[in-house]
Order: sequence, then structure tokens, then C-alpha cells
Amino acid sequence: MRDFLPEEAQRMRHVENTSREIARLFGYGEIITPVIESYELLAAKSSDEIRQRMFAFNDLGGRKMALRPEFTASIARLVATKMMRKPKPSRLFCLGSLYRYDEPQFGRYREFWQIDYELIGSNKPEADAEILAITYNLMERLGIRNFYFKIGHIGILRGILSQEKVAEDQQSGIMQLLDKKRWDEALTAIQELGVSQECIATVRTVLETRGKDARKVLRDAKINVEKYESAVAAVEDLQEILELVRSSVGLEPLVEAGFARGLEYYTGMIFEVYVPEMEIALGGGGRYDKLIELFGGEPAPAVGVAQGTDRLVLAMEKQGIAAEASKKKWVTVIPVGAELRAKAFELSAMLRKAEIPAEVDVMGRTVSKALSDANKRGFTHAVIVGPEELKEGKVVLRNMKEREQRIVTIDRLTKEI
Ligand code: HAM
Repeated sequence: MRDFLPEEAQRMRHVENTSREIARLFGYGEIITPVIESYELLAAKSSDEIRQRMFAFNDLGGRKMALRPEFTASIARLVATKMMRKPKPSRLFCLGSLYRYDEPQFGRYREFWQIDYELIGSNKPEADAEILAITYNLMERLGIRNFYFKIGHIGILRGILSQEKVAEDQQSGIMQLLDKKRWDEALTAIQELGVSQECIATVRTVLETRGKDARKVLRDAKINVEKYESAVAAVEDLQEILELVRSSVGLEPLVEAGFARGLEYYTGMIFEVYVPEMEIALGGGGRYDKLIELFGGEPAPAVGVAQGTDRLVLAMEKQGIAAEASKKKWVTVIPVGAELRAKAFELSAMLRKAEIPAEVDVMGRTVSKALSDANKRGFTHAVIVGPEELKEGKVVLRNMKEREQRIVTIDRLTKEI
């Protein structure tokens, strides 16, 4: 877990502010959920990895609780318990800190931040396409270059395995191996379940069916899985989604028919976003149609995405993209002597009212020391409040960059700055 100094915090907040703007443009309402939830809720349908890595504890009431490792479970709970009567769909947005006992390394922390968008109530490809478009728009608006999407559909592999009567939790184990790119182990695990030779051959080909020409990859995938009805339906669903995002944002993703993500709740399209400079995903998401009913709600199909805020900041740093610095003037107000402190306060209040950031010298420094400090900190202007000028309703305004100063009347001060 880390501390964020002002410049670092500013980069995080810049990304968050941008994401909030995207939420507004797409009509997503912000929600705030607790950092602590029941362990059972967070554990259900997440993954073995996440279950083992949660910060879990018993509270004073003897309940098993945990720090949230992601938002989706909390949002599904909120929808199941408080939003069932609301008109569909619900478009929800949230951001905040999450906790996983991951091995700390580049871009992987035990406390990290996410930006999360969830579209609840629709099982149509339009909904999946919207979540992909939001992700695309966020990357663009942050100025991130050369980002690419990796996309698949969990229904392809699950469809094959279900038809071969492989139990759901055994399927989840296999998905986790695939998520970790342990393809050979996954194939061996499938073999050990006593599935048909045809199944093994089909899965092997699925894992090799990948590429940038989405139409071709999915055509090939469909032919390969033709014996497995729901796998075919999954390919067709992905075809429709990709046609929609191609025409809306021009997305040309890397399609992997055998793509798997660790989380167990996914039922449909799944995806991750990358930049060439980093091996780890900046964000990921997908469709989860059964989670809300699992938490006691009516059946409600849903699709969403979470962006790693920390990783977006890292990607921007790698690509040399500066967080939008405040373009406002930044002024220091220096009283010449203690008796002019009140006047300095008054003038700084006047500047702030005019939206000009102003700091009063609180160190009791002499004017020359205060000016050299202002220089070091990069102030654009200094206002020196001296007794002689003040008698005529004036102050000294110094332009720090030009190293020039002149006497101006107080009522023209904000205009002059
Ligand atoms: P996830 O892939 O586990 O999905 O996490 C999403 C993103 O959170 C990752 O791509 C990464 O950027 C960031 N992240 C995860 N773990 C860490 C970590 N230890 N340190 C830094 N960043 C991390 C989810 O959490 C799903 N809830 C996404 C989703 C929303 N699916 C549907 N709706």
C-alpha cells in the first residue's frame, strides 16, 4: 500500500475526473458502496485466487467480513436489494480503492484503485458494445496511444465443456489455468475429466484461434465448434457485438476464441485493454448474467468494466502524457511586516473569489526571502503589500517569470493578474 504525494494524487484524480466526465456523457449515475462487505458476498463467484487474497477478518459482531477486492459483487448486491423496482436498464458508475493480497510488483499493489461502469438489465449485444465504447472513449480522452483490446467470449469454452457434462466449478478451475496462460496444464486437466477426444481436439483448436482479423477468426471459430450448440451461439453473439463497436468507435480488437478471465461470474463477452509498453492489463470486464439473481434479485443480465486507475496513470507516464495541470494563475501574497497580515488575508480572499489561486505567506519571511521562495515554487505572480502603496489603495504586483514589478491599484489587481 502506498502514500500518494500531491503530484501523484493529482495524476490519479485527473484520471478519475476524466472517467467521471465519461460517465456523465454516457448517462451513468455514480454510486458509493462500502469498503467492507460480508466475506460470503465477495467470495461468491469471484475466483479461488481472489478468495485466497482477500483481507478477511471477523468483526466485533462475530461476522466474517472482508475489504472489497472489486466492485462488481457490491454493485450486484445493491441492484438486487435496492434497485429491482427501478426501470431497466440501470447505468451505474463508481470509483474507489480495492484490496487484494497480491504479490507487489510493477503495476500490482495491495491497495489499488478502479473506475467501474456497469450496465444492468440488458442481454443485448448493444449493451456489451456500449461498455466497450466507454472503455475506448476513456482511453482516447486520457490521450493514451496505441491501446488495444483483447476480446473473447467465455461461452465458447464453457459451451463446449457443459455439453461434455463438465461441472461448473471444474470449468472454473480450467478457466483460471487459461487466465494464467497455463494452456498445457488446462488441456491436461480437461483430458483428465474423461471428455471425448473430439472435445480435446476442439478445445485445442479454440485456443489457437486468434488474430486481428475479427471476422475471419470468428468464422474459423464457428466452424471449429459447430458440434457444440451453445458455443456456436457464443461466437454469433461476439460477432454481433464486434460489428456494433466496429461501426461506432472503429474498434479492431485482437480476438482470442480461447480467452478466459479469472473471475467466475462471467457468462458472455470478456475483454481486457493493453498498451504495448506494459504487459499487464489496464482494465478488464465482461458480461455476467447470473450474479444479481444469485444475490436474491430477479434475473438481471449485466455487463461491465473496471479500469485500473493506478495502471492508467502508469501508462500515461510511460507514454509521457502529462496530467492536465491547472492553467490558472498562482499568486503569493506577501505582507511587508506583521501589521499588514490582515490586509494580505483580505487581498488573497479577493483573488480567490475571482478564481485565482492565492497563498498568503505564513512564515513571517522578509520580502526578499519570500520572493526567492516564490521563485522556487513556480508562482506566476507575487503581490507585495507595503505600507506606502497601501496608503493610496495600491500594492506591488510582481510578474515572477518576467522579473518585472509595478504598482497597481487594488481594484484593478485581479484584472492585471
Ligand atoms: P479485474 O480484471 O480483476 O476485473 O480487475 C480490473 C483491473 O483492475 C485490472 O485490469 C487492473 O488494471 C486493476 N487491478 C486488479 N488488481 C490489481 C492490483 N493488485 N494492483 C493494481 N491494479 C489492479 C474486475 O475487478 C472486475 N470486477 C471487472 C468487471 C466489472 N467485470 C464486470 N464488471
